[in-house]
Amino acid sequence: MFNKESYTGDKVKDYSLVLKQLEALLKMEENIITKLANSSALLNQFLDNINWVGYYLYDSAKDNLVLGPFQGLPACTRIRIGSGVCGTCASTLSTQLIDDVNCFEGHIACDSRTNSEIVIPIVKNDKIYGVLDIDSPIKSRFDASDQLYLEKFVKILEEYL
Ligand code: SME
Repeated sequence: MFNKESYTGDKVKDYSLVLKQLEALLKMEENIITKLANSSALLNQFLDNINWVGYYLYDSAKDNLVLGPFQGLPACTRIRIGSGVCGTCASTLSTQLIDDVNCFEGHIACDSRTNSEIVIPIVKNDKIYGVLDIDSPIKSRFDASDQLYLEKFVKILEEYL
């Protein structure tokens, strides 16, 4: 059910299927780590040309972001609010679509292969819960339709937090 053969190459159809697959995964289990782990694995097998996908979660005790479930190379463990692409996303509660990370002042390079990045805020009860971060070795890998569907992805996830 969760493999490349499920997809047609039509971006709208395929993202719509991914959103259904996400719902199915989220309904399977209550544990939040399980939900975040499986949802990052879902995106990892669906999205082409990415080198990292996963979550940073807000740690209210330390007032920063801590690394959560992900797929990819080991990454930076803590990110200050307002720092880097993820911390900017968390402080502004707005999606950061970065065509070229080398032009983003303060970008935190966990993996030197990364050239473009999209980070989407995850909000619960009007407060930052964490971010979904996706990195690509290709410049301008993510476009407005990726943003639209990945924001829908996060909206569904938020319902299950
Ligand atoms: N590049 C991110 C840091 C996280 S890694 O990409 C996994 C940033 O600037 O916040």
